[in-house]
Amino acid sequence: MKLKVFWSMFALSTALFVSQTALSAGNDVSDGHRYFVRYCAACHGRDGLGDGPVAASLSKPPANLRKLGDKYGMPLPAHRIAELIDGRDTIRAHGNRDMPVWGERLYELGQGDRGELGIGEVIGKIIAYLDTIQDRRTAMR
Ligand code: HEC
Repeated sequence: MKLKVFWSMFALSTALFVSQTALSAGNDVSDGHRYFVRYCAACHGRDGLGDGPVAASLSKPPANLRKLGDKYGMPLPAHRIAELIDGRDTIRAHGNRDMPVWGERLYELGQGDRGELGIGEVIGKIIAYLDTIQDRRTAMR
């Protein structure tokens, strides 16, 4: 599939799922937590502090994901965060390539078996989970 087509379909499905997830966020984030431990904790740490076992070998330290609320506002702006994770925002999160491009990676790992919706779902669930572990609890935009 042409990359551009892939991204636009992917962006749409992520956006759809992320908005659904945002609505139900706070209810059940156990899936999101499971995905986080599986795909993100190696670098970002089990608690999201940026202190995972792989962190020391990276040229740039993984972000403290509990501070996303301070940076981007609460509740987390799901679309903005999804861009950082899935690789559409390559300048910030993936400038040095230490942070994997998850849109493609999750697809390769087979989360794309159900089509791009599967990937949007995984990222949406991870973001819903991240929303629950922010240091900042009060609304801020
Ligand atoms: C191989 C190590 C690694 C893995 C695995 C990883 N990340 Fe990252 N991540 C990084 C690094 C390094 C940065 C900082 C990159 C930069 O600032 O240029 C980062 C940055 C980010 C940012 C941007 C933070 C900010 O303050 O703007 C988000 C969001 C993020 N990661 C989420 C995730 C999620 C969710 C996963 C799991 C799906 C994940 N990361 C997996 C290494 C990793």
